[in-house]
Amino acid sequence: MNIDILKRTANRLVISPKGILAIDESTKTCNSRFEKLGVPTTEEKRREYRELLVTAKGIEKYISGYICFDETVRQSTKDGKKFTDILKSKKIDIGIKVDQGTKDFGTNIGDKITLGLDGLSLRLDEYKKIGATFAKWRAIYNIGENTPSEDCMNANAESFAKYALLCQEHDIVPIVEPEILIDGDHTIEECYEVTAKNLDIIFPILKSAGVYIPGIILKTSMVIAGKSSQNQSAPDEVAEFTLKCLKAHVPADIGGIVFLSGGQEDEEATLNLNAMHKSKRLPWPLTFSYGRAIQNPALNSWAKNSTDVIAAQKLLVEAAKRNSQASVGKYK
Ligand code: G3H
Repeated sequence: MNIDILKRTANRLVISPKGILAIDESTKTCNSRFEKLGVPTTEEKRREYRELLVTAKGIEKYISGYICFDETVRQSTKDGKKFTDILKSKKIDIGIKVDQGTKDFGTNIGDKITLGLDGLSLRLDEYKKIGATFAKWRAIYNIGENTPSEDCMNANAESFAKYALLCQEHDIVPIVEPEILIDGDHTIEECYEVTAKNLDIIFPILKSAGVYIPGIILKTSMVIAGKSSQNQSAPDEVAEFTLKCLKAHVPADIGGIVFLSGGQEDEEATLNLNAMHKSKRLPWPLTFSYGRAIQNPALNSWAKNSTDVIAAQKLLVEAAKRNSQASVGKYK
């Protein structure tokens, strides 16, 4: 493990005023988004859409890294340029989702464990050759009557530690992504409690496994009320709860913290991040790593008219710019 490389990569990924763009939807998720918009669910259509995302002009002003799916890092533009070469030429770091989804954990309905440790070291060897400098592993947690259970949180934390250590042994920065799902009618206080407890489980396990904390990035959900809660959270409230939680439960020397949008409305995710940057000095770099909140306008436009790639790319870059502004508290 070369801690200088890890630290440099982590710093690059969260350098202000940039954030990370997630385009790592699995084939299943990508297809289901395409299906809703009437786009054919073929490999070629996914390639065409990802070409639009990868070749968007000027996006490198706002985006430091792209998180890709396995299929995408092997694909090329219609005229034969590898996506990975295009990203490298724009000095955008290449990230790769390495988890392989989730399955039920035990018999407690709603608990999920993330899969993907089998053969991970070999896959990382290959991704490193392709040029990946960072990776992502996502675990999901449902807030319910009996979930998430402590056993499930522990098991996911153990997997995070194994994954993160393997990445760091390859000089690849691991993004550790514990996502508390927004689905449900939980209150913001309940979300705070679960998020805090989970972080308190994850970090000691990462540390005792020997994971180098300044060489990881935490990708977290915001502390926010559930989508179907009667009391939806305002940006100032989300900012207050989220920052309080992260300050108390994340080590100050972490490489950086980034947010997923997790099904928030596009502008809601931007406003919430912006509100967090009203607060003066934060202990860690704090920015975005959105998927839907940046891609949505471009995807909708392309689905309606796939010949007008430029229009879709313009919307993509504008969304990246809005979130870049929010990452320094300057979004209006
Ligand atoms: O794992 C989730 C993605 O990396 C972020 O996507 O912003 O649409 O939640 P999202």
